[in-house]
Amino acid sequence: MDRIRLVGGNQLRGEIPISGAKNAALPLMIASLLTQEPLVLENVPRLADVNQLEKILENHGVDIAVHGRRPGTPGSRFDGQRMTLQAADIVDTTAPYELVSTMRASFWVIGPLLARAHEARVSLPGGCAIGTRPVDFFLYGLKQLGAEIDIDDGYVVARAPKGGLIGGLVHLPKVSVGATHTIMMAATLARGTTVIENAAMEPEIDNVAHCLVAMGASISGIGTRTLTIEGVPSLHGATIEVIPDRIEAGTFAMAAAMTGGDVLLRHARPEHLQSALDVLGQAGATIASEAGGIRVKRNGNGLQSVDVEVDTFPGFATDLQAQFMALMTMANGVSHIRETIFENRFMHVAELARFGADIRVEGQVATVTGVPALKGAQVMATDLRASVSLVIAGLAARGETVVNRIYHLDRGFERLEDKLSRCGAEIERVTG
Ligand code: EPZ
Repeated sequence: MDRIRLVGGNQLRGEIPISGAKNAALPLMIASLLTQEPLVLENVPRLADVNQLEKILENHGVDIAVHGRRPGTPGSRFDGQRMTLQAADIVDTTAPYELVSTMRASFWVIGPLLARAHEARVSLPGGCAIGTRPVDFFLYGLKQLGAEIDIDDGYVVARAPKGGLIGGLVHLPKVSVGATHTIMMAATLARGTTVIENAAMEPEIDNVAHCLVAMGASISGIGTRTLTIEGVPSLHGATIEVIPDRIEAGTFAMAAAMTGGDVLLRHARPEHLQSALDVLGQAGATIASEAGGIRVKRNGNGLQSVDVEVDTFPGFATDLQAQFMALMTMANGVSHIRETIFENRFMHVAELARFGADIRVEGQVATVTGVPALKGAQVMATDLRASVSLVIAGLAARGETVVNRIYHLDRGFERLEDKLSRCGAEIERVTG
């Protein structure tokens, strides 16, 4: 099994190109189910989750062509791939357990399948390492659009009324990224008007909403908590660019703050991660927006502890919580980090302790008392963002660190070791 070996202590200096966002690319790919015409996506990252979703969509009848560009090709604005997806016919409305169980976002196909093919049979995604992650909001929302829903043998079986889904009012009890994507996509082809209240307003939702509009959908309120969708009879093809990955950008910003040095995060958009940048500023980083991205360096006063409460966008992202905790392990003072989105997202704590970090967890709050130095260790992680927090700790720790089970990293970080080593980190992938 592949591992990452790194030796800490080097400052990061140079430029890191930020890839297309995983969490935008996945729902954009799913949106291809809504039309028989080609959907062209620019700047798609090369990630294991993208490859897995290709398999799932191909099973429904989507033809997918990927035109790779070599990373770093001169003259190209982005390094990402161009992907053309065409669902001329939906040949199968079942998303089987073997495919859905490995990636929760694949459950989201239920919305477009129901809207276009008027039926869907999609395996329940099951629990996952960071929490139970139920699907009750999805089922409620689809029922509000007239769907009949049964649970049969671990599958959600959904049927639209004769003639297709009907617009309705969906008030989400809690902000949910996945439920917002799914209901929004389903509503584009429903008869009449759908209003989604308490909708997620993450930048990835905007990216998908703009894609749907380019495909002929009528959506107002994009970027707000209330989305209004007027259903149309059909959608057509479009070309859309995947936004830069704000979580990747925030991760490298924290790595730069942790090691010192000076890094330009190329393509990163400050408005997509402003609250994380504000926190980093308080913690001792200097952040500057430049035409080509965001520059991060230390302000010269050392790392200071900061309290953080995770929130939905525009708040501090749960997907940056583990990385920020790694940074706080070496800050002056005591930091309190409250996780509010997922009930079990502190599994990196035990692994960070292997570096000598001082962290205590009570309920949803982690109390981190900074230590003067970390020591390299053998570590293992249980989810994507937790894994990368261990890489960040290893970059600053004295001596050698080995991160095991790195398939988690490959799900969501493109060429991680390559990007870091180009900035001076001593890091390599060890195969076998
Ligand atoms: C998305 O997950 C992201 N995944 C997650 O990123 C991210 O952590 C999360 O949003 C929050 O920002 C993708 O975009 C592919 P939610 P999602 O529905 O949509 C509860 C990563 O590392 N809930 O917004 O699954 C749920 O349990 C991943 O890239 C219900 O109770 O998250 C959670 O407490 C991990 N019932 C809260 O809502 C439901 O039916 C928010 O979850 C749905 C959700």
